[in-house]
Parts: sequence; structure tokens; C-alpha cells
Amino acid sequence: MILSIESSCDDSSIAVTEIDSKRVLFHQKISQDEDHSIHGGVVPELASRLHARNLPKILDRCKEYLPHIKAVAVTSEPGLSVTLLEGVMMAKILSISLNIPLISINHLVGHIYSLFIESEEILPLSLLLISGGHTLILEIDSKRAIKVVAKSSDDSFGESFDKVGKMLDIGYPGGPIVEMYARDSIDSKIELPLPLKNKKELEFSFSGLKNATRVEILKIKKERGDELDKKSKSDICYSFQKMATEHLLNVTKRYFKSKKIENFAIVGGASANLYVRERFSKLCCEFDINTIFSDLKYCTDNAAMIGRAAIWKYQNREYIAHKNLKVSPRSLEINF
Ligand code: KG4
Ligand code: ZN
Repeated sequence: MILSIESSCDDSSIAVTEIDSKRVLFHQKISQDEDHSIHGGVVPELASRLHARNLPKILDRCKEYLPHIKAVAVTSEPGLSVTLLEGVMMAKILSISLNIPLISINHLVGHIYSLFIESEEILPLSLLLISGGHTLILEIDSKRAIKVVAKSSDDSFGESFDKVGKMLDIGYPGGPIVEMYARDSIDSKIELPLPLKNKKELEFSFSGLKNATRVEILKIKKERGDELDKKSKSDICYSFQKMATEHLLNVTKRYFKSKKIENFAIVGGASANLYVRERFSKLCCEFDINTIFSDLKYCTDNAAMIGRAAIWKYQNREYIAHKNLKVSPRSLEINF
């Protein structure tokens, strides 16, 4: 079994994965959403202290597996330095005390492997990674080499949802809440601009749409008094979600037109969005492309995806020495 640890942002999570069957035997996560919501975003120092408290709590709950653990895997990049360190320190201690090898996993590779939890890999694969930190189109070939095809020049998809959630004061993280509000809108007349409408390059941008949403909110507030009613909030969420998704679809459509693709997946926290899933399923159907999604419970950060990504490294003895394992908070490389 592999014990895996994830602490790259505000979720403390540990999983135990059986190597041969790839079955997840144990998986728990303690989310810090409530602790950060009063600040309207993740406070790294607070997140780090909460990991220091929560990771040992989860470890205590899976201690029966410890005698069977053959390796410990941990997210080492990218993420918040002070939170990554908490997971890495715990992994090093476990590796030394249990005398087992250490495996370092890139968080984005973990998101890709959320697709294959308890199943076999499907490679080669093209995918859209939409999270709080990234918006990327990636290609992973049959030898697991990863190529970045498109990225965002400013905010990420998930981050823009969080910021709109904050503008509307509807809670943190904004992603799932904006989606929920959008579902209640029946006839939104709010028009927002489609980002990079005439751009030919494969690139994402969400800051213009975010600012247009801000202007629209201020306009409605001015017209109807200071407080926005539930309908206005729902209409804003609907129009914002629609245009942000339309932008993802537009860029992806251009990518689909540029080459023949067999399998396309969507991963990352924001891939839990059902509207996004529905729109992409339709697009892939038009292009006769097989669509793959992660199980909803493995879209946002979790240690099961880190454990799944570690299996191949374990089987190939790709271990890392304690002294060489450092955190790389802003790593731009996505290497397996
Ligand atoms: O992958 P993740 O857990 O953390 C990062 O690696 O960043 O993704 C978290 C992000 C947040 O920005 C959150 O608002 C967004 O994913 N998210 C969503 C939804 N659920 C989570 N965005 C849109 N719709 C959702 N249903
Ligand atoms: Zn993530």
C-alpha cells in the first residue's frame, strides 16, 4: 500500500491506496473552507497551522494500515510554500520512521490521475485542467510526457468564480456557490463579454470578464439601491458562468479543429461544475471525442489522486532522497 499526503492549499488529506488493485482503502480530507471564508480567501499562515493540526488527526485514523505501507507519496509542487511544507515534513518523518521510500508528486499530475482512481490509465490523452490556480489544456502521451497546449494569461477559471462570489458576498469558495445561484436564474438579461473573442492563439483570460461582472454589479446596485436581491445575484452568476464556460469551449473548439483527438478529459476543482460538464459533453459529442471526467468526490484537492499518481513511480522505483525533497511553490513545470 502507498500512503499519500496532500496539503498544497487549504485541504488536509491522506489516502491509502492498494498498489496492485489500485483500490482506495482509506481516504479522508479536512477542508478549511469555513476557517478561510471570513477572510474571503485562503490565508497561507492560517492554512499551514490548520494542516499542522489536521494532518496528524487524519493519520491517527488510518494507523492500522501503517504496518502495510510500502512507500509514502506527497505533493511537493506547485502550491503554497508554507502548506506544502506541512505535508512534506510529515512524509519525511513517516519515511524515516517506517524505513520506506519517499515519492514526490506534482499536484497537477495528481489532478490528471484523479481520472484513473481505482481504474487503468487511458493514454494518450488531451485534457482541460480547471482549478483555483490553473486553466490549462494539456497533452499527455503514452510515455507520460506532458505538454502545455494553452494556459491563462491572468486569472484562472476557478479563481474568477471565487472573485465573483466575493463581489456578490455569497460565500467562499465561490465556485460551487456561484454554480448553485446560477441554477436559479431563469431569464438572465445580463450581457457580459466573451473573453478573447477574436484571438486565434490558444490562450485563456478571465480578468476582463471578471471586471465586466464587477461593473455590472455596481450598475445594478446603483439602480436598485445598495443591496442586491437574490434574483439579481442568480442572474449575475448565470451570465458569468455562461460566458466563462463559453470561453473555455471556444478555445477548446479551436484546439479540437487543430488536430484529431480520441480522448478528452476535464480535471481540477472546477470540473465538479455540472454546467461545465454538460456543455463539454455536448462539444465532445459533436467532434466524436470520448469525454472522461473524474468522480465528483475526486475533483477538488485530495490525497487519493496523489496516491494513484504515485503507483507508477513506485513500480519504477522513482524515489526521492529526503535531503533532495524540497517544495517548489511556483513550479511551472508539469513533469510526471
Ligand atoms: O483543484 P482545487 O481543489 O484547488 C486547486 O488546485 O486550485 O480547485 C479549487 C477551485 C476553487 O477556485 C473553487 O472555487 C473551484 O475550484 N470550484 C468550482 C466548483 N467547485 C470548485 N468552480 C466552479 N464550479 C464548481 N462547482
Ligand atoms: Zn488542485
